[in-house]
Amino acid sequence: MADTKRTATLTFDNKSIEMPIYAPTVGTDVIDIRKLYAQGDVFTYDPGFTSTAACESSITYIDGDKGELLYRGYPIEQLADESHYLEVCYLLLYGELPNATQLQDFEGRVTRHTMLHEQIHYFFRGFRRDSHPMATMVGVVGAMSAFYHDSLDINDEWQREVAAIRMIAKMPTVAAMAYKYYVGQPFVYPRNDLDYASNFLHMCFSVPAEPYVVNPIIAKAMDRIFTLHADHEQNASTSTVRLAGSSGANPFACIAAGIACLWGPAHGGANQACLEMLREIGTVDRIPEYIARAKDKDDPFRLMGFGHRVYKNFDPRAKVMKESADEVLDLMGIHNNETLKVAKELERIALEDEYFISKKLYPNVDFYSGIILEAIGFPTSMFTPIFALSRTVGWISQWKEMIAEKDQKIGRPRQLYIGPTKRDYKDIAER
Ligand code: SDX
Repeated sequence: MADTKRTATLTFDNKSIEMPIYAPTVGTDVIDIRKLYAQGDVFTYDPGFTSTAACESSITYIDGDKGELLYRGYPIEQLADESHYLEVCYLLLYGELPNATQLQDFEGRVTRHTMLHEQIHYFFRGFRRDSHPMATMVGVVGAMSAFYHDSLDINDEWQREVAAIRMIAKMPTVAAMAYKYYVGQPFVYPRNDLDYASNFLHMCFSVPAEPYVVNPIIAKAMDRIFTLHADHEQNASTSTVRLAGSSGANPFACIAAGIACLWGPAHGGANQACLEMLREIGTVDRIPEYIARAKDKDDPFRLMGFGHRVYKNFDPRAKVMKESADEVLDLMGIHNNETLKVAKELERIALEDEYFISKKLYPNVDFYSGIILEAIGFPTSMFTPIFALSRTVGWISQWKEMIAEKDQKIGRPRQLYIGPTKRDYKDIAER
């Protein structure tokens, strides 16, 4: 805990409670309210945690006003341009960029863990072929704790390390198998001679009937998408992983909980919902109709891929993704992509509209990602599984950080109770 010199005083009902204020290395100060209930017999009330810091962390920093995102202090723009996903995984997990030997060793360890236990193949077969790949991933990842018994003991640092490597290594295999099952093609095993992104593309798109050569441009775009989604502070799914982990649940169960939470359209499910929205809009001339719906309080419709709890400026990931979309489509010879045209025009119109300006609603990470993923060849149902694959390193890094805390305890929020006061049971004849 950062040390403190300053305090905040809360005065009410003839009580005056002094609470320490902690300053971060960068960002917003926090008031430590841990003694408030004991000293003041009151709870704080913050549904949605809009003003609540749930933990201390050294992994990722976001400045929502500046539109800044740092992984262990390094700007996302630099990492997206100059690094690659497995190097970013090392950075998020261990806190520093690896030297050449460390990177080679780490990549070797991940590569050797990419296969799944052969029995796990049978888990897929229990699902309907048209199951959403996220449903398959939640089920299979949760089941992994039934197989990897030598990496379940959260009190054993070495087992935590093995669990982290296994999760990072096996998620592309699980996601690719979920895709293959969904499209009715045979599973493709990972290959140790391919880099991480190329291996994923190979497991998704190669078929036994002919050779498959990974396009390096697509592999680089895929790798960049992984990096852009790797971690993002205490978002809903990361907070889910932390809360699940706080009970001592095994790492596979915690990651399965994170996948389940990410699926929601307000969170990671927005990339699928956004592309489906752009397709529904269809052409630029229909944009005003949808902007009007997004502004209509009586219409539940929201512009998917727009807005963010933290960013009140551009999501830096959206900027990189937008540049990447242009680059990938151009390099793939896809010109006049109507969906991209609609997305860019929708962004332009929205950012000039008083409603979006006043509410500080900008495109987020999900606004352009689907356009790239669709161009690469993925169906929309694979967009959120790819987000989950990418975010696994963030989830497992935050989980490891939490488990290692010396005063770590189970998360257990309280409530503002508004239900009935105590009353006696009534016999059915009296109701
Ligand atoms: C991700 O937390 C993270 O870091 C998440 C993430 C990560 O990397 O982990 O960044 C990934 O989840 C990105 C967000 C993806 N979701 C979407 O694109 C779905 C559409 N966006 C929204 O539903 C919304 O913007 C949220 C959920 C992202 C944020 O919601 P908040 O912070 O709870 O804000 P809010 O719902 O209270 O909205 C504030 C106002 C409201 O109007 P008023 O009630 O104040 O009049 O802005 C409006 C909202 O109606 N608003 C929108 C809008 N988003 C917010 N209006 C139209 N379209 C939208 N997209």
